[in-house]
Amino acid sequence: MCGIFGCILRKGDAAPIIHSALKRLEYRGYDSVGEATLQQEKLLIKKDEGKIDEVHALHNLDDLPGRIGIGHTRWATHGAPSRVNAHPHTDCTEKIAVVHNGIIENFLQLRRELEELGHLFQSKTDTEVICHLIEEEMSGGKPLAEAVRGAVKRLDGSYAIAVLSTSEPDKIVCVRKESPLALGVAEDAVYCASDIPAFLPLANKSVILQDGELGMLKDEGYELRKIDDWSLVTREPEVIDWTPEMAEKQGYPHFMLKEIHEQPLCLRNTLRLQEQYLELMTTFLDRAGEVFLVACGTSYHACLAASYMFSKLAMLATYPVIASEFVEQHGRAVNIESTILAVSQSGETADTLAAVEWARKRAATILGLTNTIDSTLTRVSRVYICQQSGPEIGVAATKTFTSQLSVLSQLALRLAKKRGKISHEEIEDLEEKLEHIPNIVDTIIESQEEKVKQLAKKYRDKDCFFFLGRGVSSASALEGRLKLLEIAYAPSIAYPAGESKHGPISLVEAGFPVVFLCPRDGTRKTIVGNIMEMKARGASIIAIIQEGDEEIKGLADDYLEIPEGLPEILSPIPYVIPLQLLAYYMAIERDLDPDKPRNLAKSVTVQ
Ligand code: BG6
Repeated sequence: MCGIFGCILRKGDAAPIIHSALKRLEYRGYDSVGEATLQQEKLLIKKDEGKIDEVHALHNLDDLPGRIGIGHTRWATHGAPSRVNAHPHTDCTEKIAVVHNGIIENFLQLRRELEELGHLFQSKTDTEVICHLIEEEMSGGKPLAEAVRGAVKRLDGSYAIAVLSTSEPDKIVCVRKESPLALGVAEDAVYCASDIPAFLPLANKSVILQDGELGMLKDEGYELRKIDDWSLVTREPEVIDWTPEMAEKQGYPHFMLKEIHEQPLCLRNTLRLQEQYLELMTTFLDRAGEVFLVACGTSYHACLAASYMFSKLAMLATYPVIASEFVEQHGRAVNIESTILAVSQSGETADTLAAVEWARKRAATILGLTNTIDSTLTRVSRVYICQQSGPEIGVAATKTFTSQLSVLSQLALRLAKKRGKISHEEIEDLEEKLEHIPNIVDTIIESQEEKVKQLAKKYRDKDCFFFLGRGVSSASALEGRLKLLEIAYAPSIAYPAGESKHGPISLVEAGFPVVFLCPRDGTRKTIVGNIMEMKARGASIIAIIQEGDEEIKGLADDYLEIPEGLPEILSPIPYVIPLQLLAYYMAIERDLDPDKPRNLAKSVTVQ
């Protein structure tokens, strides 16, 4: 997830405006930055690796002439952070400049085609193909906007782009497909940006581009057209009533809630990961002697859930291990036959890296799953996958957890296919259901959020909570517990439900809240038994159930519903959403700041 910006000013230089707008977009990505302006039909570009302040100190981002320009702050997905991979990218003639937010899935095939036509590529990014495609279209005589239209029609994936060209120096052309894009309209200027915060101090009216729409920004304002049939779209600007602080959270009161709501988009991104890395990692897992899934905190819970997926789908036994215990628990057994799949959204957690380092020294194979390209984990991994969730600002991991689960389940499915452990029909069915998960998460947030708010209000004064689940849901229970504990400071205990009667049940008394995860899977009969055990001791049962599950509805004091049609092995993704919301609203009820819980850090880089 990157931030793009563009502006056409009646007077004055665009560069300082672009610089400050990118600062307001920096939470979207901060590993490299760049801008381009047009002056006397010449394209002027400044870009480099590093945070905006660092690049500004080196290159002075305010010092570029021209009243028309575009800018970009990057969260690397394809091609490590570097000057050559920073945006804007240009075509062979350096007459066209493009900034992009999103993922071009078919960029490798397009690149090969364009190279055969003689185009020379500078960077390792997916974005650069767009510049050369526009160049191809324009060399056929098309005006800029139609050339951009022709180019984006060749693209698969998600994109918000802004384009400058020296042949039409009075315009910016921008297009949206899935990645967000908004126009800002002011008396003496017009802007385009990944979101409203970028131009909020400059314009109080905005126009949101819909998927498949192209915007042409000119001195006299903007024109919108549909990419499909090139028909004109009329849309009046709407007044924006946000404070800048609010804007950075896109109208959400906290980053955590914003990131919970971003999960459908992030999950769609995980379904577009580069085939070759998924395949390569699957091959390494297939060849592995033994596999350790190593991580901390929420990432460890993703590993625990994955151990059920690998076993059930691919009959691969894996060892989920809390990183800080790895050396003590398995250190001496690790050898050249061992494979470590280290999971870390930051890619910088010291305990996880220490476990990896120990194993590397014993010739083990290191695989990495992270959300941060160019993080240390990417550098020590034989193969790594970047999960494309974009920056996560809230200290408590939410969107990165469900994205980790999506990637891990895809690996388990691929391994099952490679090993022929389950039938093709089953694999196709699971793949189709995985594609459907982003919509299901959308529905859960829409249909259950209000109910969760009421639950948080009802149980806000409770001293302690239980989270119980069976099978893969025991991982979801642990994650639900961690969220409530770390965000709302509510003492909470999670157990595989079967284990609860071997001790923890002694805590239960009348009104004691017990959260049960009850997907309709092979554990259903026994989970109903556990609910009865807790009810017999007066517990208040909060059940996360599949829609229309009348039996458990009848047993529960409160319940939250998950849409039908999900294979049990993928249930941790949707079933954790209500638990994330419960922790968030419980923190609000207790007047706590969900974004900055006490004593915690987003990434602990000390052991
Ligand atoms: C903790 C964070 O510091 O580190 C947790 O507060 C996170 O949210 C854990 O799950 C592990 O972080 P990472 O970056 O290795 O996934």
